[in-house]
Amino acid sequence: HPCNISGWLLMLPHRLSSMSISVSWWSEVQMGPPDPILGVSEAYKRDTNPKKINLGVGAYRDDQGKPYVLSCVRKAEAQIAAKKLDKEYLAIGGLGDFTKACAKLALGDDNEVIKSGRNITVQTISGTGSLRIGANFLSRFHTEARDVYLPKPSWGNHTPIFRDAGMQLKAYTYYDPKTCGFDFQGALNDISKIPEKSVIMLHACAHNPTGVDPRPEQWKEIADLVKKRNLLVFFDMAYQGFASGDIDRDAWAVRYFIEQGHNIVLSQSFAKNMGLYGERVGGFTVVCKDAEEAKRVESQLKILIRPIYSNPPMNGARIAATILNTPDLYKEWLGEVHGMANRIITMRELLVANLKKEGSTRNWKHVIDQIGMFCFTGLKPEQVERLTKEFSIYMTKDGRISMAGVTSGNVGYLAQGIHAVTK
Ligand SMILES: Cc1ncc(COP(=O)(O)O)c(C=O)c1O
Repeated sequence: HPCNISGWLLMLPHRLSSMSISVSWWSEVQMGPPDPILGVSEAYKRDTNPKKINLGVGAYRDDQGKPYVLSCVRKAEAQIAAKKLDKEYLAIGGLGDFTKACAKLALGDDNEVIKSGRNITVQTISGTGSLRIGANFLSRFHTEARDVYLPKPSWGNHTPIFRDAGMQLKAYTYYDPKTCGFDFQGALNDISKIPEKSVIMLHACAHNPTGVDPRPEQWKEIADLVKKRNLLVFFDMAYQGFASGDIDRDAWAVRYFIEQGHNIVLSQSFAKNMGLYGERVGGFTVVCKDAEEAKRVESQLKILIRPIYSNPPMNGARIAATILNTPDLYKEWLGEVHGMANRIITMRELLVANLKKEGSTRNWKHVIDQIGMFCFTGLKPEQVERLTKEFSIYMTKDGRISMAGVTSGNVGYLAQGIHAVTK
């Protein structure tokens, strides 16, 4: 009807103006790039090849390729459920039973630092949250130097974590593409030039993405040099137990640096070693000069945390605390960490054996020498692309594979694919 049409037309300017207001707030926001690792998983999901393998994500899988919940975790959950605990807020710094055990796990049972009360450890939102709280703390209180030196390469998220906290990112030589190993001389050369008081990031064990760690005698030289340069050490320990299967051996560098008088800061994650990925359990520790300094630092960490997330979630921390503080569960956990690390070590050996069986004459020794969840294969981007296109084998472009995604069922096919693209 004509009247209806004119009535609608009369309303049009109002509709348009309200529409243009509603779209105008974010019109300047540009589309961001997809996450490089999650992008790999999405492409994998779309692939219909029954032989497809996803070696992109850094989560442990059992030998059937299934996600794995530790038996000690299931038992701790049952114990917690039976107690019918309340759900009141935790303290800003988290669950005390957890933070004490977390520091002890990293530093060792009878570390002088813990005995003299000169560390402060707060519960964090897993390793990422710990790094971010640490980065924010440095940004606010380590004002003499803004530069954070990362190993080249480092975990992809280190850069945005520190950058978003207002720090400046620099790098030191770490990986040698020629040997697929540690460039010790290159690292020493670069570290000797780092300006005093800068922050240096060290991966405590199972370096991500390369799987390349310094040997103890190399760590000793690094510790000496870092002391000479008067650098503030930030240890990221996301894989304690995952490298060697032994939690004490994997914490060796952290404990050695402390013994040598370095007052480090430390980030810990329980994602990998307890399989608590989505529970988000971690810790951030500052080793201080004395207990009085630790108290002051603690007060400022609380002031920092309170306006970000107020206080951390309790469920994962209760699980981790129950395991760490109950002797039979703790013993069972050590066995299960060892089992996970061992399966990965076995897969490294099987992969190399299968590559030889396929007829590969390349030197694959680095696959066995590297340690932890990841292997930096040395595959070039074109070779990675061929593996994905022709074999439905998915990994990040840098040639990093998650060893946790390799199983006795798919290792033969993986070797076949790698040999075909590296002949
Ligand atoms: C080197 C490194 N640091 C920290 C993390 C933090 O992980 P999350 O936040 O899941 O504990 C990871 C996880 O992949 C990592 O590889």
